[in-house]
Amino acid sequence: MEKSIFERLIKEVPKTELHLHIEGSLEPDLMWKLAEKNHVALPYQNIDEIKKAYNFSNLQEFLDVYYQGASVLCDEDDFFELMWQYLLVCKQQNIVHTEIMFDPQTHTHRGVGFEVFMTGFAKAIKKANEELGISVFLIMCFLRHLSEQDAMETLKQAEPFYNMITAIGLDSSELNNPPEKFKRVFAEAKELGFKCVAHAGEEGPAQYVWQAIRSLSVDRIDHGVRSIEDAKLIAYLKHHQIPMTVCPLSNVRLCVFDDMKQHNILALLEEGLLVTVNADDPSYFGGYLNENFTAMFTSLRLSKAELVQLIKNGFEGSFLSKAQIQKWTRQIDDIAASI
Ligand code: HPA
Ligand code: ZN
Repeated sequence: MEKSIFERLIKEVPKTELHLHIEGSLEPDLMWKLAEKNHVALPYQNIDEIKKAYNFSNLQEFLDVYYQGASVLCDEDDFFELMWQYLLVCKQQNIVHTEIMFDPQTHTHRGVGFEVFMTGFAKAIKKANEELGISVFLIMCFLRHLSEQDAMETLKQAEPFYNMITAIGLDSSELNNPPEKFKRVFAEAKELGFKCVAHAGEEGPAQYVWQAIRSLSVDRIDHGVRSIEDAKLIAYLKHHQIPMTVCPLSNVRLCVFDDMKQHNILALLEEGLLVTVNADDPSYFGGYLNENFTAMFTSLRLSKAELVQLIKNGFEGSFLSKAQIQKWTRQIDDIAASI
């Protein structure tokens, strides 16, 4: 595909984002500003030093920096600003629907209550619905390095805000924190009517993806790239068309793959899996959604058909209604045919 065609497609075709941690969209400039405002001490002398710290050799090294960064978020305005800045990027990048993850325990454990961050998020989401025409669903994630009991208490604390939450997720340190550790709390969440997703097969083995499916009954897998190590799992994911939210730049920055040329996303797509493209933690991993597509275009010889399929998968794998998915898919086909 010619570069000019790629650029037009990326610009003109409406897109989704299904794997985006709102705390991971905190840009260094905003982190610095909020640290000063809220008198939070950071181990950096200036904004350049923050940027230089974004050099990771595994998931845990990233998480340490990411949780420290999130400590500058204190009041409702901070959470509004964080959410609003990301939604403005969505507008710029023609993302029309996004399903955003947030980590309540990262905030409640510092004494910042649900009403603080949920109210900030709600204001930004309402503004984006009204002024930008973007639809937003929220995914509340449990931190898997903490106990299931803690996750259970968090689910209870969230009760006044259930109507704002579409799905429950699972993130943080994957190794040694298998999905089945959260079996009961996910069963409870399902009972309450929430959709369920879980990070699995990012650093952890294919076995963790099986567990997310069998023990947590997830509707979607976050990452899942290590599924390729298990042919039976690949066949299962294909047969059931279980969506996978792959994050190419994240995987390279966290050394899941040595470089973008080694990434298996197109191999998974070729297998017939319902693979989508997402940014994960854009301010830490070098780019938002379009930068992920650009990195794939540059390193993986992405074809027009593959690009259009990946974007359509983003709708197919979303929690939008069937009618909405059909509407967007038709629009994508029409626009792509004209380019
Ligand atoms: N993996 C696990 N936990 C996370 C991630 C991730 O990529 N980003 C933010 N929390
Ligand atoms: Zn993630």
